[in-house]
Amino acid sequence: MNERKYEAILVKQEDGLTTIALNRPEKRNAMSPQLHREMYQVLGELRYDKDTRVIVITGAGESFCAGQDLKQYFLEMDSQPESVRDEVRRMARLWRNEMIRTLPQPVIAMVNGWCFGGGFTIVTACDIAIAAEDAVFGLSEINFGHFPGGEVTIVLTEQLQPKHGLFYALTGKTFTAKEAERIGLITKAVPRENLQEETMEIANNLLEKDPLALKAVKEAWYYTFYSPPDVAYEISTLISQRVTQQHGGRPGIQQFAKKQYRPGLGAYKWEG
Ligand code: ACO
Repeated sequence: MNERKYEAILVKQEDGLTTIALNRPEKRNAMSPQLHREMYQVLGELRYDKDTRVIVITGAGESFCAGQDLKQYFLEMDSQPESVRDEVRRMARLWRNEMIRTLPQPVIAMVNGWCFGGGFTIVTACDIAIAAEDAVFGLSEINFGHFPGGEVTIVLTEQLQPKHGLFYALTGKTFTAKEAERIGLITKAVPRENLQEETMEIANNLLEKDPLALKAVKEAWYYTFYSPPDVAYEISTLISQRVTQQHGGRPGIQQFAKKQYRPGLGAYKWEG
């Protein structure tokens, strides 16, 4: 990845893991146009970065993401030329949806605090989401006379049952990470003191896995979700053929046949 100075995000790379922290703690990591530009830029680069095998997205300070920056993304953007508004909205949409979904690397949201409005779309876009038990979630748009616009309603109707999602969109009530886990918005709520450790445990698990297989899991999952069953079956077969070709066979199954490991208990030794 190019060494680049970012203002609204912090990027740290270590041993195959790239951590991106939204870095506007004084604004509770609300997403400004600049933050959207930088996320679009960095995710676009990470796709091709062979040193990045797992990505974690989190927030600097006590907040994960307070949603869109209500001043910079809405009030100030309203007076910008249409071309600028379109450009920012396009990037804002892409990085929190198909860019994360189509990245070859798995992406984990580590939700360390407040998560409001548009912040939900980061959580839903990531493949795995771990939150501190005392993180607070809320669809607050109703409280300022709007509705969860842009991508928010779209992704939430995909991922939540109406009796859960519609309830929170209508009431704007906040809820805990335990409740987020119950309704399927996140993977797991953990005690705050364990958040880092539990996230790293999952990241390390993923770092042991064959990157070609991780990419295939994501593709098969999301293409299946968005396709009718017969199309999904064909895509899945093609992905499977491609992975076998890329491996030049089935090295993991060969290692099993030679009794070199137990697939039920851990990953085979892939060649990087
Ligand atoms: N947009 C712009 N600025 C924000 C946002 C936001 N979404 N959230 C917080 N800030 C700013 C505040 O204006 C304040 O700035 P200032 O110090 O220059 O006055 C600073 O962050 C700290 O905010 P406080 O409210 O003082 O922080 P506190 O910790 O007490 O409360 C909370 C945090 C609950 C997140 C509160 O800031 C809040 O309600 N923010 C709005 C959350 C929201 O409604 N998000 C949805 C946006 S809409 C969408 O995403 C589609």
